[in-house]
Amino acid sequence: MQAPKHGAAPLVIEETAGRKAYCQCGLSANLPYCDGSHAREGTGLAPKVVDVPSPGRKAVCQCHRSASLPWCDGTHKTPPS
Ligand code: FES
Repeated sequence: MQAPKHGAAPLVIEETAGRKAYCQCGLSANLPYCDGSHAREGTGLAPKVVDVPSPGRKAVCQCHRSASLPWCDGTHKTPPS
């Protein structure tokens, strides 16, 4: 399995309600959403699929260390262990 490509900060978006697939490999050309790059690149990773119940501002984790994936929990502010 390939390590995900990390971002330094979350992507803050105005999200709509519905089923979403958030990229976990960092290779998507359509971040924060999966565009299938994880499979084309053979990363062994998969997107995080969630049902967003209502529209609103969301901070989507890009460091991939959040305990609440796909959402940011502030972990990107701490050094990796
Ligand atoms: S493109 Fe990154 S998880 Fe699908």
